[in-house]
Amino acid sequence: MPNLRIADLLATPPLDATCSVNGWVRTRRDSKGGFSFIEINDGSCMANLQVIADAGLPNYETAVAKLHPGSAIRATGVLTGSEGQEQAVEMKAAEIHVYGFCDILSYPLQKQRVSLERLREAAHLRVRTNTFGAVARVRNILSFATHRFFQERQFLYLNTPIITCSDCEGAGQMFRVSTLDPDKPPRDKQGNVDYSQDFFSEAASLTVSGQLEAEAYACGASRVYTFGPTFRAENSNTPRHLAEFWMVEPEVAFCDLAGDVDLAEEYLKYLFKAVLDECEEDLAFFNKRIDKTVIETLSHIVDTPFHRLPYTEAIELLGKADADFEFPVSWGIDLQTEHERYLTETAFSQPVAVTDYPRTLKPFYMRCNDDGKTVAAMDVLLPKIGEIIGGSQREERLDVLLERMHELDMDEDEYSWYVDLRRFGSVPHAGFGLGFERVVQFATGMANIRDVIPFPRTPHNARF
Ligand code: 4AD
Ligand code: MG
Repeated sequence: MPNLRIADLLATPPLDATCSVNGWVRTRRDSKGGFSFIEINDGSCMANLQVIADAGLPNYETAVAKLHPGSAIRATGVLTGSEGQEQAVEMKAAEIHVYGFCDILSYPLQKQRVSLERLREAAHLRVRTNTFGAVARVRNILSFATHRFFQERQFLYLNTPIITCSDCEGAGQMFRVSTLDPDKPPRDKQGNVDYSQDFFSEAASLTVSGQLEAEAYACGASRVYTFGPTFRAENSNTPRHLAEFWMVEPEVAFCDLAGDVDLAEEYLKYLFKAVLDECEEDLAFFNKRIDKTVIETLSHIVDTPFHRLPYTEAIELLGKADADFEFPVSWGIDLQTEHERYLTETAFSQPVAVTDYPRTLKPFYMRCNDDGKTVAAMDVLLPKIGEIIGGSQREERLDVLLERMHELDMDEDEYSWYVDLRRFGSVPHAGFGLGFERVVQFATGMANIRDVIPFPRTPHNARF
């Protein structure tokens, strides 16, 4: 007897045939006529399957009557067209096998709606709700679409290290990886912790970005991309920051800043089109329950060219804006979310790629522009989210890179392998990093980034 997923069964119902379905009970309703309606869900789609269990079943009293939400069962029976309004097909159960009962008193997912905040306390169970099941499916489609997009364009998928000794972004927001005894670490003559005695013989951390290693592979394999976890020990308690998040980082040799922005635009449109095409049922749910504009916004982005705007022009525009910004605007400031949202929501009503930021705001690897003041950087801004992508053309000129590293007081030895890439056949190249959770947020309309990754890590929280 075939074991069917509910999604497949509803897509092409094998009517009048006997089959089995596994899943978790969402509700059970007992009717006076001597049978029960059991709604089960297996996570394959939003819809439940309605199973009708007759009181004549041998285990009706001992098992079926004790099925509460959360119980895991296998229902076997004949599939028929339903007389009810809610569903097209239903199953008349010939047998109900119980894998596991569920305690009604302590199960956190009761029939009534539970808030997203409370569900964060039950992150191990929340995939069984409509919202988190849908988020998980959309996230999966976005992952697969990412690989498809880059594979179709002959990019090589690259796994960069998680443990590293370099601070790519230079922001000092790294989690230390060490096997030294935290109570009595060895110390050098100056009293500093002596990492030469540590596991890697130097201070190591979790990576903030795979970019530097991706650059090395791009300078040989031409086009690469990473898709991996990255870590930031920044104490940001916002709906858009995680301490552990997933980043997609393409890196392309023989590419400049304009080519980089083009790739970012093509990739984002590809992702949102994939969600619109492949997640219809889930998107309809998000549009109804979470954010009534999500489908319209995604469709608009797929159809609209991105606006390109140099930072200096963005500052002029913000300076003249009829808006009450909390952070005052002047040339040299880092754009805050309020500024980013003004640009993409009010000024242009379309995604905006801001380019050529002041060099003082950006990391050492970005290519210096001829004006001496700005670098070939780009940030892609989306409505509601603000920055979704950060990237740049990289500094390929050895002397300029070294000068910049000295300016920032960086240890040349530590980055010697990176500098080598400028010594041995250096080429113009560019890339970017896309915050994967921010894309999932955007595609679903979910307001908090903690609700689009299965088990979020944030300050004071690494539970589950
Ligand atoms: O702008 P960022 O810091 O850029 C880099 O790390 C570059 N090395 C990328 C590259 O050029 N290869 O980060 C890239 C993106 C941001 O635009 C944002 O979407 C996301 O990563 N991001 C975060 N997402 C969630 N939580 C955080 N704490 C994030 N920090 C950055
Ligand atoms: Mg950035």
